[in-house]
Amino acid sequence: MRVLVTGGAGYIGSVSAEVLLREGHDVVVLDDLSTGHRAAVPEGASLEVGSYGETTAVDDLFARQAFDAILHCAARSLVGESVRDPARYYRDNVAGGIALLEAARGHGVKRFVFSSTASVYGTPRETPIREDADLRPINPYGETKRTFEGALAWYAEAYGFRSVSLRYFNAAGASEALGEDHRPETHLIPIVLRAAMAGDEVTVFGDDYRTPDGTCIRDYIHVLDLARAHLLALEATAPDDPRTGKPAEPAAALVCNLGSGRGYSVREVLTAAERTIGRLIAQRVGPRRAGDPPVLVASSDRAREVLGWTARQDSLEAMIDSAWAWQRRHPEGYAE
Ligand code: UFG
Repeated sequence: MRVLVTGGAGYIGSVSAEVLLREGHDVVVLDDLSTGHRAAVPEGASLEVGSYGETTAVDDLFARQAFDAILHCAARSLVGESVRDPARYYRDNVAGGIALLEAARGHGVKRFVFSSTASVYGTPRETPIREDADLRPINPYGETKRTFEGALAWYAEAYGFRSVSLRYFNAAGASEALGEDHRPETHLIPIVLRAAMAGDEVTVFGDDYRTPDGTCIRDYIHVLDLARAHLLALEATAPDDPRTGKPAEPAAALVCNLGSGRGYSVREVLTAAERTIGRLIAQRVGPRRAGDPPVLVASSDRAREVLGWTARQDSLEAMIDSAWAWQRRHPEGYAE
């Protein structure tokens, strides 16, 4: 397959591109490098610097190069920022995403895998969360991802797009070469590891939740497991694959959660990191962070049954070990 990976210089996009290349596929990365890193584009992939929302440039790219499928990982993805500046999220995640879909439609590229998020559920009524749970996002980030998922469903019915939206829970860990380097960093595991390296203190955002130790519980999933799921999802969009369209019926948009089905609290993450690093990590309890649901744990039954996917590296230790190994090799993150 020849795949266009938007956001292929970012954390999940780069590792997914790396896995696609390893499986013998051709990869072109489209990334404007606003949050991604040139050094994260895996060897063997070619890089087009630009935004998926720039209609003329993307149209030109499709005219120059033929693609079998699109893996759309690029997006704005900070919950807090989305609340402060929703316009940016609607412009990039919705309007930009539709510009990409339109360019793809114009050039007959109708296989699409989309990076969605557990944020589409908001604060779930039940856990583990199944895909048919109510979608009630509590921030513009989740809302814009839900909106784009909706567009994919209608593009399937009307224009024959075959798509899979993957609702990620909490991506963690690293491959040998590629890891997590957000600036600013907001995610728990890299924050904990950087604090440990610098001798700084970690702030636990609230310990008065209704959970066993009072801190929030999340479902962490190894980025290499996520990457493998992208490959399986791309395969499921093949022409004639019944998972995204049965004969004589309109094409279909499939949605799958990706998590390990097991939750860990913030305190458990800190304890696991202390075990990996071999020393205590300074910590204090601060106020709750706005918009944090107490528990987010996925049911991944559908991903297993439909995509044939399971998390292989589902121990928190494996994720933290690999993130720590990458961090030690890249104490300043990617060189720019
Ligand atoms: N946390 C702290 N201290 C920190 C950072 C985080 O206590 O310094 C806590 C958070 O409050 C939360 C947990 O650690 O309870 C995990 O926080 P992350 O920011 O690592 O991850 P989130 O669960 O908030 O969000 C992530 C992605 C979103 C995605 C969501 C879906 O960043 O894009 O998972 O579950 F939508």
